[in-house]
Amino acid sequence: MSVLFVTGTGTEVGKTVVTSAIAALAGGSVAVLKPGQTGVGPDEPGDTAEVVRLAGGLTTQQPATQRSATRQLTIQELARYPEPLAPDTAARRAGLPQIGPKQVAEAVAELAQRHDLVLVEGAGGLLVRYDDEGHTLADMALATADLGLPVQVLVVATAGLGTLNTTALTAEALRARGLPLLGIVVGCWPRDPDLASRCNLADLPAVAGAPLLGALPQGAATTGGAPFLAVARAGLAPALGGQWDAAAFAAAQQRN
Ligand SMILES: Nc1ncnc2c1ncn2[C@@H]1O[C@H](COP(=O)(O)OP(=O)(O)OP(=O)(O)O)[C@@H](O)[C@H]1O
Ligand SMILES: [Mg+2]
Repeated sequence: MSVLFVTGTGTEVGKTVVTSAIAALAGGSVAVLKPGQTGVGPDEPGDTAEVVRLAGGLTTQQPATQRSATRQLTIQELARYPEPLAPDTAARRAGLPQIGPKQVAEAVAELAQRHDLVLVEGAGGLLVRYDDEGHTLADMALATADLGLPVQVLVVATAGLGTLNTTALTAEALRARGLPLLGIVVGCWPRDPDLASRCNLADLPAVAGAPLLGALPQGAATTGGAPFLAVARAGLAPALGGQWDAAAFAAAQQRN
């Protein structure tokens, strides 16, 4: 069993798409937890609904029987706030309860009892606040680790100019808190990558001090089900269940 906190260098960088791709590739049972969903009304689809659209209903081959079985995918949201703001502000303005590290750690622990993999998707970037005490996703990850669970963090980054700085800052903030950084994934690799994007393939792991573990192609989130599974396999490295090869990908991009 493992617990992976998925954060990003900012909002709209592809955390949900990457989370869905990892869930699609995961062998056993998977839970996706969104501690605080902002910017959606009570009846609107949030990030967990997007995970179901992309990664739900996939089947997994059972080697012993050669029969396929539906993969177990559990989704959970702890709080939802209608305004597209940081969770602490959105909660305050809506007069709704805030969520803190203890509540998240307990929810993860509960899910971890019944699932092989628990994915936790943050709101925005790593240091976005969830409550009036200033707790962030990093505090949630630390509280989860304090319960004895094997916590790692994945950072989703953009491809182009500016990503080296935000990725380095995020990696440094994780290091300062003693949180293990599993790697970096580019959430949306452009169809026609510019010079900065191509150079960043080598520079991102260097500034992060962690490996590049994938690059999902632009358009990855168009279709769910089997096509998405194929995109996930081709776009994520073996450490995340896929077949993406960093060196081969970088070499192919330099030739383009
Ligand atoms: N590889 C991709 N190709 C095309 N569009 C993408 C890709 N990845 C993400 N997108 C689109 O970009 C937008 C942001 O992606 P996503 O929702 O995954 O970001 P996020 O980091 O989870 O954002 P949030 O901070 O709101 O949770 C979405 O509209 C999504 O469909
Ligand atoms: Mg998201």
